[in-house]
Amino acid sequence: MRQARDVIREESEVLHLTDKQIKEIMSRLHNDLVKGLGKDTHANSIVKCWITYIQDLPNGKERGKFLALDLGGTNFRVLIINLGANHFDMQSKIYAIPNHIMTGSGVALFDHIAECLANFMKEHDVYAERLALGFTFSFPLQQLGLTKGILQRWTKGFSCSGVVGEDVVQGLKDAIARRGDVQIDICAIQNDTTGTLMSCAWKNHNCKIGLIVGTGSNACYVEKTENCELFDGEPGKPDLLINTEWGAFGDDGALDFVRTEFDREVDNNSINKGKQIQEKMISGMYMGELVRLALVKLTKMGLLFGGRGSDLLFQRGSFYTKYVSEIESDKPGDFTSCMEVLEELGLSHASEADMAAVRHVCECVSRRAAHLVSAGIACLLNKMNEPRVTVGIDGSVYRFHPHFHTLMCEKIAQLVRPGIQFDPMLSEDGSGRGAALVAAVACRQSSTVA
Ligand code: GLC
Repeated sequence: MRQARDVIREESEVLHLTDKQIKEIMSRLHNDLVKGLGKDTHANSIVKCWITYIQDLPNGKERGKFLALDLGGTNFRVLIINLGANHFDMQSKIYAIPNHIMTGSGVALFDHIAECLANFMKEHDVYAERLALGFTFSFPLQQLGLTKGILQRWTKGFSCSGVVGEDVVQGLKDAIARRGDVQIDICAIQNDTTGTLMSCAWKNHNCKIGLIVGTGSNACYVEKTENCELFDGEPGKPDLLINTEWGAFGDDGALDFVRTEFDREVDNNSINKGKQIQEKMISGMYMGELVRLALVKLTKMGLLFGGRGSDLLFQRGSFYTKYVSEIESDKPGDFTSCMEVLEELGLSHASEADMAAVRHVCECVSRRAAHLVSAGIACLLNKMNEPRVTVGIDGSVYRFHPHFHTLMCEKIAQLVRPGIQFDPMLSEDGSGRGAALVAAVACRQSSTVA
């Protein structure tokens, strides 16, 4: 008779991507990237490849005091950053964005941001100063310039009304004007991927890809300006940063051939059904839930926990993505963290075989995520076709998952064309420092112009 363990392994096979499937994913993504960049194909493209208007990477000579805002990850933060020669100092504060603000009106969101900003300036004795600000706003923006960006769609659980189709910089400026107490020059708006790239490029001029594997999943890269058919900015500069917004990959069914019942359920239960399909297979907002759904299925089949689940196991959202990282941090054969998680979930009746199975499911989900990210990065590296590129990386999944980095490096190495090398580089707070750097580079340019 087949053992429960074997059946569990067979059931988890759906989460395994074969090399053939991964290559197919790369080729579909490549086509989508090209469509996103093309003048005639962009409007109907799924992977939008937004132009960022960032053409100059930092040269290490940026100096000065900047404010930064970071909205769109796990936390909302306000930062003040002093860029000096070869060092920077940074102070920041995390503010909550309560759920009613995430899903309320845009005006309330921007008023909240402006209020946090003013409070922060008071606390840091710069309330009366006029400072430049870089705004990291990590959602799909159609940028019309360095300080103008039209929100295309909300992602990652946000759904504030009256913002899609509007200029987000204007939204923030209006909120600051409504208060009337602080003086801010918004110098640049940018994505977290571009911030990550910029913060790594400050130290390493070879950094040409920025990757986030956190609450969401996305990448930006340096493209040749001549390939960006929609670019209407200053001519003459060879490179342009492109925000791919690859989280939307699959929204037209391109990933259906590898999606599972768990992916479909995560999508059905989300507030943006049918959207961000690739992101929902990868990122921190969804990974724990994917594991939970697989565990529920195995429990109902009688293969786990003696067929006896718990209220929490059956409750949506109860299996946090950080549990996946904790469970996989246990040494092989040790189940200390796994046991703690299962106890928290009311599953203290789990046997050692159950714990091994739970770990196996976690590994399948996170390995698939790492391989999907690898497919994306390898696709970009092959497209750029440079001998050696540094990839700046940030995000909670990448930072905290014990094996994500290794899984990714191994897979990318297999998937890139021979002769292409890549160096992963952990970003030091790209969203914060990167925002200041983009603002600083913008100021550097405007002061050269003046
Ligand atoms: C989502 C956003 C994207 C961001 C990513 C990582 O995919 O749409 O702009 O870069 O999350 O935070």
